[in-house]
Amino acid sequence: MELDIKPLMPGMDFAVEIKNIDLSQSLDNVIFEEIRQAVFSYAVVVIRGQSINDEQQISFSERFGELEKSLVKIDGEIKFPQIYITTNVGKDDKILPRDHASAKYHRGNSLWHSDSSFKPIPANISILSGREVPPFGGETEFADVRYAYDSWPGSISGVEKCELDDLICEHSITFSRQLVVGDIFSEEDKKSIKPVRQALIRKHPETGRKALYVGSHCHFIEGWEYPRSRALIAELTSWMTRPEFVYAHKWRPLDLVMWDNRSVVHRGNPWPDEDYRRVMHRTTVAGDGPTV
Ligand code: OGA
Ligand code: MN
Repeated sequence: MELDIKPLMPGMDFAVEIKNIDLSQSLDNVIFEEIRQAVFSYAVVVIRGQSINDEQQISFSERFGELEKSLVKIDGEIKFPQIYITTNVGKDDKILPRDHASAKYHRGNSLWHSDSSFKPIPANISILSGREVPPFGGETEFADVRYAYDSWPGSISGVEKCELDDLICEHSITFSRQLVVGDIFSEEDKKSIKPVRQALIRKHPETGRKALYVGSHCHFIEGWEYPRSRALIAELTSWMTRPEFVYAHKWRPLDLVMWDNRSVVHRGNPWPDEDYRRVMHRTTVAGDGPTV
């Protein structure tokens, strides 16, 4: 059986839609393996019209590997620790005020990032199910950091591509959230979210392709003067998010979008969040080990 694959970024090995799949049924191993290889090769895979509940999402996601459990308790207790809910809707089923801690935390997703790069072992694959989506805005944008690495011409200040390989960066979610919403973490949360070290260049173990690994959590380059390291991170970020490398996913209800965090960065665009509900359930496949 061959998957029914439609390219979403013609001419690139990036972003495809797979049709004629029903994830509420259990998939046989051959089809699952083809989907897994598609996620590795194309980095973003869209499957529309998937009416699945949390149990079904978890059991499909677990076939990729062990799932992450939420590190921060900002949403209080949740039913399935493997499900990370990003939403503007509160526990009382009403739209949250914009200054609510949880609404603020999720607004951090509007900066380009790679999921869990602030954890010692960052995520491999994220699987996001659009349970309720706004009529406009709230797109998720993906930038292919493999193409960005391949084509990077070197920095305006003279840093060459070959110098990137050995660089190590410090990533911190306290830093990235401060950029958008200030200091939102409790003292208890802060204990579990210490800064971590990550390689600046990541090589995908399945495809062998190299990719840039910066994003909002990436704070500075170890051993570099702070302003120089912020300048290079900014320059790499603007290069890797050039429109040529970006697929913007316009959500329809019940879309399922999977991405490989080793090959893309992503961000969630704003929408009129006091008027329209947006409820997204994410499962996250844990990484294999540290990047340095
Ligand atoms: C995420 C994320 C963006 C969005 O779930 O990891 O960054 O558009 N989401 O909701
Ligand atoms: Mn994310």
